[in-house]
Amino acid sequence: MSHQIALNFEDGVTRFIECQDGEKVLDAAFRHRINLPMDCSDGVCGTCKCRAESGRYDLGEDYIDDALSEDEAAVGLVLTCQMVPASDCVIAVPVPSTACKTGTGRFAATVAAIAPHRDAALTLELDADGDAPAFLPGQYVNIDVPGSGLSRSYSFSSAPGERRLSFLIKRVPGGLMSAWLDRAQPGQRLELTGPLGSFYLREVARPLLFLAGGTGLAPFLSMLETLARHGSERPVRLVYGVTRDDDLVLLDRLDDYAARLPDFGYVTVVADEASAHPRKGWVTAHLPAEALHGGDVDVYLCGPPPMVDAVRRHFADAGVAPASFHYEKFTPNAPAQALPTERAA
Ligand SMILES: Cc1cc2nc3c(=O)[nH]c(=O)nc-3n(C[C@H](O)[C@H](O)[C@H](O)COP(=O)(O)OP(=O)(O)OC[C@H]3O[C@@H](n4cnc5c(N)ncnc54)[C@H](O)[C@@H]3O)c2cc1C
Ligand code: FES
Repeated sequence: MSHQIALNFEDGVTRFIECQDGEKVLDAAFRHRINLPMDCSDGVCGTCKCRAESGRYDLGEDYIDDALSEDEAAVGLVLTCQMVPASDCVIAVPVPSTACKTGTGRFAATVAAIAPHRDAALTLELDADGDAPAFLPGQYVNIDVPGSGLSRSYSFSSAPGERRLSFLIKRVPGGLMSAWLDRAQPGQRLELTGPLGSFYLREVARPLLFLAGGTGLAPFLSMLETLARHGSERPVRLVYGVTRDDDLVLLDRLDDYAARLPDFGYVTVVADEASAHPRKGWVTAHLPAEALHGGDVDVYLCGPPPMVDAVRRHFADAGVAPASFHYEKFTPNAPAQALPTERAA
């Protein structure tokens, strides 16, 4: 039996490798032409030290304390030249992918469907060529905007393991990708680069608090689907904030997770002063105190940069120090020239 190992490099590039039963991670990576940092390959030098973020594994007893101390092993540090996985694992590699002579993967996909959510956003569904692309729930890909030589980043809203990929995309008036998507048709081809990013669901060891701004909901849909499929029983709370009433989308999918997950709840918040929504303002004003579990909580935050910065400031000012804090900013690209109206597919 083999295990899937995600190697997440310092530059956000993720490569997935298969590790055979009893095989060491360093050897499996080498088989996949990825030269992880190493020197002795004998558990002596410590050069191959990485952090295992999830999964079960055996480190054996053939390494010395100078290479990896007991304290380091206790907090999840590993020597890849000794590590034999016993399940799928995620390993953070503390060097850029280029240093390991690897880089981002590229794949092609076909537009399967585009479903607009009023003028606010749309769901883009793509069928990937070949096998289902591997990624971690929360990660993103860069999608080339056909005919422009430019790309835009989008977080998967579907869970790993499917050939049918989905994305939740804000409709930005005059935006390069937004304009292309307004005219796109099923059957058109797209090129993607990834998976990328260090914003992904870690091992679920405590309650989770998800904070989403606008289409920053996308990675949480991927995470929630993953949690539901794995039968997770941990408490999960989501605060989903938007600017206008019309920006609230895919609430039916959140209701579905509320039914499928034993302890999931969500609240919506609308910033627009004119809205009749029961919760108005910013997400920070509507954080359920009990969802913080006195700090024993993993917080994930995703949305436009001002929202992410405001929430981070709020946590700092309130002296709340969650057990872990992960965030992704949907930073816009510099303005690009619009595409001509007539374009090839
Ligand atoms: C890691 C990462 C993941 C991302 N994931 C997603 C995702 O899952 N869903 C999603 O919708 N977006 C996501 N984004 C943002 C996305 O990559 C694009 O920036 C966005 O879709 C706009 O692209 P565009 O080509 O339509 O507009 P552009 O041509 O890039 O922009 C046109 C003009 O609109 C401005 N603009 C761009 N975005 C916004 C905005 N949100 N609000 C107001 N003005 C804006 C630009 O500054 C520019 O002046 C992500 C960004 C990053 C960095
Ligand atoms: S390569 Fe030297 S300890 Fe692993």
